[in-house]
Amino acid sequence: MRELLTRMHAWMTNYMKSFYTDDEEVQRGILIKEQHTGYVTANCIELAKFLNFSQHDTELAEMIGLFHDVGRFYQYQTYKTFNDAQSEDHAELAFKVIDKLDFFHELNAEDYDVLHFAIQNHNKKLIAPTDDERKEIFAKLIRDADKLDIYRVLQPYFAQENADKLPNFITGRSPEISPDFLEKFVRGEQVDYREIRTNGDRKLVRLMWVYNVYFKWTMKKILERGYIDAIVENLPMNEKVAEGVRRLKKYVEDFVA
Ligand SMILES: [Fe+2]
Repeated sequence: MRELLTRMHAWMTNYMKSFYTDDEEVQRGILIKEQHTGYVTANCIELAKFLNFSQHDTELAEMIGLFHDVGRFYQYQTYKTFNDAQSEDHAELAFKVIDKLDFFHELNAEDYDVLHFAIQNHNKKLIAPTDDERKEIFAKLIRDADKLDIYRVLQPYFAQENADKLPNFITGRSPEISPDFLEKFVRGEQVDYREIRTNGDRKLVRLMWVYNVYFKWTMKKILERGYIDAIVENLPMNEKVAEGVRRLKKYVEDFVA
């Protein structure tokens, strides 16, 4: 599988470069996703090792990281947004690319099904129910690896003055948090990304992600890198928000213990 991966990496490098453009705004989005692809692939490998995956499964994890966002390039070039609700589900877009590539015929059917399930479920609110433990763990792995890197990407933009510097900032700029989001945050629930209305909501959603982290490895990295504090420091504070933050911090403390 190593040799197949080498060819896949070379293909991906060329594929991403084929989207380079003189349009500065589009180029910025493409470069963000190129870098993100590299970091997520690395996260997948590290996390697979932490989970004591076999060499074969570590390589499959690497492949899932490498291709999980392959749909983003066409999405940004065509729609100039990373917002799935305003364009197309980028996991579905990924398969429009993947299914045209001969590489994937070199995988056995079982591995292909695992890769398909993991990529399809990487960007959903929750993982679709499955009895297949291998599918489930690979879906969890890519979701953790992806979230960890999205925190890195978003960190410079949590401060309100930088909120509109995000590529194609599509939701409201208000720093306030919508009441229904706040209720869910205090209860430790997840929300539907499509319901984001304000910049406050956007930040809160990233905090709520913490409740959907699966592995200690990921949670420790989130904690060490200060991603939680970076968001909390930039939230509009009131008693209810503070209550939600206390609940969250206790949750994280117990999780990594
Ligand atoms: Fe991603």
